[in-house]
Formats: sequence, structure tokens, C-alpha cells
Amino acid sequence: MTRQLHLGGFQIASQVTHSHAAWRHPASEPDVFGPDHYQRVGRILERGKFDFVFFADLLAAPTRFGGLDEALSRGTQASATIDPAFAAATIAAVTRHLGVAITKSTTYFHPYEVARIFASLDHISKGRAAWNVVTSLSQAEALNFGVAEHLEHDQRYERAQEFLEATSELWDSWAPDALVRDKDSGVFADPSKVRAVDHEGEFFRTKGPLNVPRSPQGRPVLIQAGSSPRGRDFAARWAEAIFEIDPTPEGRRAYYDDIKSRASDFGRDPEQIKIFPAVLPFIGETESIAREKQAFHNELADPVSGLITLSVHTDHDFSTHDLDEPVDHIDVPGSQGLFDVARRLSERDSLTLRDVGKLYAQGVMLPQFVGTAADVADQLQEAVEGGEADGWMISAANTPGAFNDFVDQVVPELQRRGAFREEYTGTTLRDHLGLDDVPVGREAIAAD
Ligand SMILES: Cc1cc2nc3c(=O)[nH]c(=O)nc-3n(C[C@H](O)[C@H](O)[C@H](O)COP(=O)(O)O)c2cc1C
Repeated sequence: MTRQLHLGGFQIASQVTHSHAAWRHPASEPDVFGPDHYQRVGRILERGKFDFVFFADLLAAPTRFGGLDEALSRGTQASATIDPAFAAATIAAVTRHLGVAITKSTTYFHPYEVARIFASLDHISKGRAAWNVVTSLSQAEALNFGVAEHLEHDQRYERAQEFLEATSELWDSWAPDALVRDKDSGVFADPSKVRAVDHEGEFFRTKGPLNVPRSPQGRPVLIQAGSSPRGRDFAARWAEAIFEIDPTPEGRRAYYDDIKSRASDFGRDPEQIKIFPAVLPFIGETESIAREKQAFHNELADPVSGLITLSVHTDHDFSTHDLDEPVDHIDVPGSQGLFDVARRLSERDSLTLRDVGKLYAQGVMLPQFVGTAADVADQLQEAVEGGEADGWMISAANTPGAFNDFVDQVVPELQRRGAFREEYTGTTLRDHLGLDDVPVGREAIAAD
């Protein structure tokens, strides 16, 4: 039987996506700070029956590459971006089925604040919220929150673990039937069904209860993107969807097998974690039209802008290097996973730092699937049938133009093959992803 795949639409609430060229592309809308753009994106993705729109987020402008000026003038990722919660809420207001996923950091926020944001987004969207749980990347983010030193890698995951426990307790502080709303008797809520949580841990204290009633999904769908062994364990334990970047089928297959087996080790059903690698598609009526679109976009990508983001991801100042040198001798303190991918590619294709910067600017090393709708559908489907993915995160080379191409051409092709839904069959994001309902009570909180 043909396997059905899932689809997420990748966004950053800003002028760029993975593609640093996106804002300069003629098919991109210039105003990305008002509501119209996001509502348009949401309507397109819902027309395409996508599972969700997904907003990545960073909490600092990029300063790691010799300061901020280069990033601002080039419009690099995170140089100008609004809080994704508002972009998601405005999309939820004009759609009825599309899930809305946003990123919030466990390193720089407090569990009470984040529990409240997601319970609220889940109410406002009637059960379509998801949280991309991140541990944050950079020293610049630490400084913005008044913290002198970015927490060490494994400490960040310790904190994230306790953060998830505390937010789960808060979401669980209201029983599903606590709201009475009886106008005749004047009873609004049943106090016996709302309780304090009295969480006192190593990193956080929160008394509770949450002052938001239990939301339609009980808690948001949990998304994560961990690439280190510690990050993978965290994802295998908590995540219900995983966002991954890997440009090769072998890399994606290895990651898929690894996460599913770690999930089994934690006593979870591996089917309850959906893995979404990201892809940048270029679609044309003929293959040569698609190749032209790809070449036009890739040519617009500015290698320095790519190196600015690479500097953020790896916490290393690439402005101190000669652009024509190879990268294999460079050691970085930040994200090892992403730099390993860059190293693998540069060894395979003898790339210089400038080439790596260009690749990063074209799409943070996402694979590019290029061709007719049938060609692109073939690649998406083969990966799902071949054990690399449960679905795909579609990243747009321009917005909203590339989403229109995908929804008008590739989605009908996948539907014709029985590989993608014709209609939504449920109303919540958990329904779309085929996830079990969240249990009510203490068992909702993963035990140590
Ligand atoms: C595919 C991918 C997407 C990520 N997206 C974000 C993001 O939007 N915001 C953020 O602060 N961190 C993001 N991260 C960083 C992770 O949350 C994490 O801090 C980082 O990858 C270090 O953990 P690791 O060593 O387990 O990979 C992302 C990481 C990966 C691999």
C-alpha cells in the first residue's frame, strides 16, 4: 500500500527562510512584518492540505561574523524578525485546519511563560498548536537575556528536560472538565479540578496552577531538532515530530533509524515520532524550466551572508579566514552536527570556504529537489518509502511564490498517487499527524 506522507511549510517570520536569497527574489513579497503576508502563506498551505506551518526563531541578531553591520546590510537570517507567536496567531485566525508550529527556547524563557503561550495558542487555534523546543545556539542570545555565558551544551539539555517536566505539570493543572460556566448557579470553574503544581527543581520553581484552562489538545504537539547524541536522546524521549537537515539519503536514513530505535529504548512507539527532513524544491513545467529557476535563485545567494549564519550556528568567526581556503582544518565550538555536514560536503566536492558560504546562503545545505511536479513528487515519495522520512518540511526559495508552485503542482501529483491526503480528516494537529491523544493526569508527564 502507498505510504501517506506529511507536509510542513517552513518559515521564519522575516525576509528570509533557509534561502538567504529569498528576500531579493522577484516572487517574494517585500512586506513580511505585517499580517497580510502570513495570512496569505497560511491560506496557500491550507489549500495544499499541509499538516502545519512551522516558524523557526533566533533570539539575537547575528554578530558573530565580525559584528552586526554585514548582517544588517545583507538582510541575513535573524537580522530582522518578529516574534513567531503573533505570525502563527494571525494565520490561525484565517485558517481552520492548518497546524501552527512556533519555536521557543528552553534556555532563555521560564516554563510558566512558555506553558501559557502554548496553551493560549492551542485555544486560539482550536487545537492546532505545536512547540519547536530548542535549546538556543549563541552567546549573543545569552547577552540579550542578561546572561554572561551561554549555558554549556549538556547543561542546556538538563535544563530542557526539567523545562518539559514543569510545562507538562502546568498544562496538566486543569482537568478537562474543570470549566463549569453555569450562568444559573454562578459557578464558573470547579476548584477541585484545578490544582497547584508546586514544582521545585534544579533550574526552576513554579507554583501553579496555570491560569489558562486545559487547551483542546491538552498540550501542544512537541517538535524538536536534536543532532548531537544528547539532543537525539532528548528528541527520542519527548518529540512527536522532528525537524532535520541532512542533504544525503544515507545521512537521512541513518538518522531516521537512530531516532526510531532510541524512541523504542525509551519505551515509546516509534510511529509516534514523525521525522521531517527539510527540502528546497524548484518546480517547472519542464525540467529545464525548473533548472533555470534553481540557477536564478542560487546565483542570487551571497556567500558572505551564508558565512554569517554559519558563524552563528558554529559559534565561530569565519570573517577571520581567507574565503579561498578549504574548511577541513577548522574547528568550531558550536553546532557540531551542522558543521559535520558542511565538512562532509566540502571533502566530497573539494569546496572552499566561499563555496560553503554560497551553499549555506542558498539554503543552509538543504537538498534541492528540481524538476517537474512528477520528478519532485518521485523524490519526496521515494524517501518516505525508503525509510528516510515520514514527511517533508518544505522550505521556500521565495515566499509565497514557491509555496504556490508546490501546492498547485506537486500536491495534486502526490494526491493522484494516493501518497497525500485529499482532505483533512480531523480538526487538530494531532489528528493530521496521526498522534495519540495526550493522556490526562500525572501519566501525561514523562517519568524519569
Ligand atoms: C534542523 C535544526 C533546526 C534548528 N532550529 C533552531 C531554531 O529555530 N532556533 C534555535 O534557537 N535553535 C535551533 N536549532 C538548534 C537546536 O535547538 C540546538 O540548540 C542545537 O542544534 C544544538 O543541539 P545539538 O548539539 O543536539 O544539535 C536547530 C537545530 C537543527 C539541527
